[in-house]
Amino acid sequence: MPLCLVAQKPTLAIQVDKPTAKVSPTLYGLMTEEINFSYDGGLYGELVRDRVPGRGWDSLNNWPAVMRGAHSSVAVDLDSRTGPSAAITHSMKVTVKAADEKSPAGVENAGYWGIPVRANTTYTGSFWAKTDQPGLTVTVALENNQTGDKAATATVADIGKEWKEYKYSFTTGAVETSANNHLTLTVTKPATIWFDLVSLFGPTYKNRPGGNRIDLMEKLAGMHPKFLRLPGGNYLEGNHINERFNFKETIGPWVNRPTHPSPWNYRSSDGMGLLEFLEWCEDLNMEPVLAVYAGYSLEQEHIEPGPALDPHVQDALDEIEYVTGGPETRWGAERVKDGHPAAFPLHYVEIGNEDQFDHSGSYNGRFAQFYKAIKAKYPQLQLIATTPVNGIKPDVIDDHYYKTTEDMYALVGHYDKADRNGPKIFVGEWATREGDPTPDLAAALADAAWMTSMERNSDLIVMASYAPLLTNVNPKGMQWATDLIGYNALSSYGSPSYYAQAMFYSHMGTEVVPATLSGTPERVYTVATRDETARKLIVKLVNATGEAQTLAVSLDGVAKVAPQAKLITLSGKSPNATNSIDNPSALVPVVSTLQIPGPKFDQTLAPYSVNILELNY
Ligand code: AHR
Repeated sequence: MPLCLVAQKPTLAIQVDKPTAKVSPTLYGLMTEEINFSYDGGLYGELVRDRVPGRGWDSLNNWPAVMRGAHSSVAVDLDSRTGPSAAITHSMKVTVKAADEKSPAGVENAGYWGIPVRANTTYTGSFWAKTDQPGLTVTVALENNQTGDKAATATVADIGKEWKEYKYSFTTGAVETSANNHLTLTVTKPATIWFDLVSLFGPTYKNRPGGNRIDLMEKLAGMHPKFLRLPGGNYLEGNHINERFNFKETIGPWVNRPTHPSPWNYRSSDGMGLLEFLEWCEDLNMEPVLAVYAGYSLEQEHIEPGPALDPHVQDALDEIEYVTGGPETRWGAERVKDGHPAAFPLHYVEIGNEDQFDHSGSYNGRFAQFYKAIKAKYPQLQLIATTPVNGIKPDVIDDHYYKTTEDMYALVGHYDKADRNGPKIFVGEWATREGDPTPDLAAALADAAWMTSMERNSDLIVMASYAPLLTNVNPKGMQWATDLIGYNALSSYGSPSYYAQAMFYSHMGTEVVPATLSGTPERVYTVATRDETARKLIVKLVNATGEAQTLAVSLDGVAKVAPQAKLITLSGKSPNATNSIDNPSALVPVVSTLQIPGPKFDQTLAPYSVNILELNY
C-alpha cells in the first residue's frame, strides 16, 4: 500500500497567558545627526544655503552676483575683516558699482537645490547688514529661475552704517508650486553692503520660529518614536577636536553661533542647536538621549584622561544642566534666557560615539572620568558606554549594526541567549543596507525580522534606533546610502523600511508572550506582545519568502477572542520594489479587518510581507 503523506500546515502557537518579559517602554526611537543634509537642506526649515557665507571650503559658491538690466555692475567678495559679532567675524561684501531702478544689482541664493514656493504662503526672513550708504533700501525677492517672475517681494529700508539685524516677510499669491526659485537681495544705486546670516523660512511645524519642515516632522510623528539620540554619530565627534559638537556654540541668538564643519563634508549652520534638538523632542513627545563629547575625534585625535580632559567633563555637566537645570542654575538660567523656561526630561546620557575606533585605547580612562563626574552630580542618570569598558560597569552599552540583508537575517536571535546580568543594550544605530538612497523592500523585510528579535529581547534592549534617518536625494545630497526617509526641496517620502518601522513602533504591547513558529520555511519571523490592561494581543509576522504562507494560529491561555481583528500589511511583488521621490507611495501599509472565529484560526501571510495582527481577547 503506498503511504499517503499529508503536508502539515505550519503553525504559530502563542501562549497569551504566560508573559516572559516586560517590553521596554522606550524601545523604539530616532537617531540623528548632520549627515546627508539632514538639518541644513533637510529638517531644519532654513531655505537659504550658507546663510553665514563663505566659511571653509564652500567659499561664496552659493552666493552669485545679480546684475539685471543693462547698467548694473557688482562684485561679491568675502570680507574677513568685518562681521556682525565676535562669533561671526567675516561677511559677504557686495560692491555695487552701478545700479538703478531698471538695473538692480546684488546677490542671490538658490537654496538647497531650489527654494520651495507655494501659493498664498507667508515666508519670514532676516539678515544682518551694514552699508557705506546709510539709508539704503534692499529689495528681497523670490524669483523663478527660468522666467524671472517674482513670487513675492519685500523692501527693507534704511540700512545703516553699523551691523544690525533686519527682518522682512512676504506672502505669495496664486503661484504654481515649484522649487525652481532663488532668493535675491538687490539695491538700485551704487553702494557697498556687507551681508551676513541671510535667512528665509516658510511655514514650520507647530509654527515654531526658526523651526522644522512640516512634512518631515509629520513623517517622524507618524513613527511614534519614544526618544531622539542626539547629536550623533560622527557629528558629535567631528574630524578634529575643534570640530566637535560644542553645545555652547550652538545656543542663543544665531549671531552668537560661529557655525562649524561637520565630518560629512559640509559646514553646519548650527541653526539646529542644542535647544532646537530639545524642542524637536518636545514637539514629538520624545525624550532626548543626550550624547556628550568624550574626548575623541575621528582623525584619531584624543584627549588623555586626567586634567586635560576635565574641561570636556565640565562641558558635559554644563550641557546636562542646560537640559535639566532649574532657573537658579548657571546653565538652566541660560536655557531660560534662550526662551525655554521648563527643564527637559532626561534619563540617558551617552559618553562619546563608537569609541572602539579610538586606537589609543584611551576610552576606559575617558569613560571612567565622565562616569564618575556625571554620577556624582546626577546619580539618577543612566550612562551609556559606546563600547565595552574595563573597570566600571556601564548602565548600558550602545551596539551598532550596519548589515547586508543576509547578515541581518543571521543577526536575528543574537540577543536571545545574551547575558542578562551585564549592562543593558542600546542598539543606537542599525540598518539593513540595501537600497540607495533609501532601503528597498528586501531591506525592510530584514529590518522587520531584526525588529522581531529586538522586541522579543526588549527586557535587555532598552532602546533601538535606525540610522541614518534622513537624506536629501539631490545629486551630492547624500554621503551615506540607505537612509530611512528621502526628500528634496518640495516633498518627501518614506521608504518601505520607514513604513515597517512605523508599523512596529506604533503597535506595542507591554509584555512579551511566547510565540512559536513550527513547520515554516526559513525567513518567516514573529514576535507577540500583549497589553493586559487593554486586553490586546499584537502579533508581528514577517514573511520574507516569495510565497504566501498560511499558518494555523492557536492562541493558548485565552478563553475568548473578539470576532474582529485588525491586520496591517506592507508587501510588494518583488524584494527590489521600493518607494522614491517620484513614486513615494508604491509600497504603503494596507489596513484590513479580519473575522476571527475563536482562539484557533488560519492566517495567510502575503509573499514578501510585514504584518501586524491586532486582536482583542
Ligand atoms: O550613521 C552613519 C555613521 O555610522 C554614524 O555617524 C557613525 O556613528 C556610524 O559609524
